[in-house]
Amino acid sequence: MEKKIALIIEDDIPYAEMLKVALEHYNYAAYAAFSSTGGMDILRQKKVDIVLSDVSLPGFSGIEIAKRLGKMYLDIPIVLLTGLNDLTLAKNALRNGASDYLIKPVKMEELPIVIERNLERKRLESKRLQKNTSNILLKALKALMRALDAKDQYSSGHSQRVVKLAMMMAEELQLNDDDSYTLQLAAYLHDIGKIGMPDSILKKADSLEDYELRKAKDHPVIGSKIISEIEELADVASIVRHHHERFDGSGYPDGLKGDAIPFFSRILAILDAYEALVSDRVYRKAIHTKQAIEEIQKNTGKQFDPYLVYVFSRVISKNGKFSPNGGKSGDQNQNHDK
Ligand SMILES: [Fe+2]
Repeated sequence: MEKKIALIIEDDIPYAEMLKVALEHYNYAAYAAFSSTGGMDILRQKKVDIVLSDVSLPGFSGIEIAKRLGKMYLDIPIVLLTGLNDLTLAKNALRNGASDYLIKPVKMEELPIVIERNLERKRLESKRLQKNTSNILLKALKALMRALDAKDQYSSGHSQRVVKLAMMMAEELQLNDDDSYTLQLAAYLHDIGKIGMPDSILKKADSLEDYELRKAKDHPVIGSKIISEIEELADVASIVRHHHERFDGSGYPDGLKGDAIPFFSRILAILDAYEALVSDRVYRKAIHTKQAIEEIQKNTGKQFDPYLVYVFSRVISKNGKFSPNGGKSGDQNQNHDK
């Protein structure tokens, strides 16, 4: 395993050297700097995992180093080495970004414990921070979905209804919690790329012109790009990108065929089409659940994965007359789902 690298900042040179030897004895790599500016130079030039710094130093203090570290090197913990006379200062430093403090003379055998504890603490802290950022971004995406619903009232609620169907599929397929969440999220966000689509296309009652159709077909790619801004949602981004692929390879955007289409995209394709059929659209009325299922089954092997159509049919029949928006019936007109 790669050695962790510690930086010692200590103006008492023999003491700094002693710490360096002790750290190397405990299998760390170590640099020693004898002033605050020297320490900052090393931080700029070398990879450092943890800083052990004296509080009183020539130039600026260890506390100032902690503050600067907090601004520039968020992932590097700093442990202050302090005499008893600086103890209050060191405790205050915890509020200014220091991770921990050790009272001098340091018990050398404690060094590995303190270092590992602070590295772990920092690692957890960054993970939490990252998770918070993802949550904030996810909230932003959900807000964007609500904006899309407001923009396109006709299909407003479509994604929520697809989510309900996705949950039923997840149960039938006995997906684990993580997979089930991924599928639900993809179901919720699948049309997010429509946010960039002009109203003239989104709300058009007649058939789309060629150039309009081309624009409409961009939405899976735009959507997956938006979602891929969140690293943790890479899977969801890929599912969204491929939700209009067709099992026989004639779909878009990549013309993927059969198993090459992500499994969850193949599920979404069915749910998306079904939900559109049982809902009123600006260009046609809703059709009844039974007709909708027949329509889906007619496209088995062409548009949809046969196995998943079988599973979905079972889900629908198990849930009786279930249609996600209450099972409206109406005349079936030409389906030009975008
Ligand atoms: Fe779509």
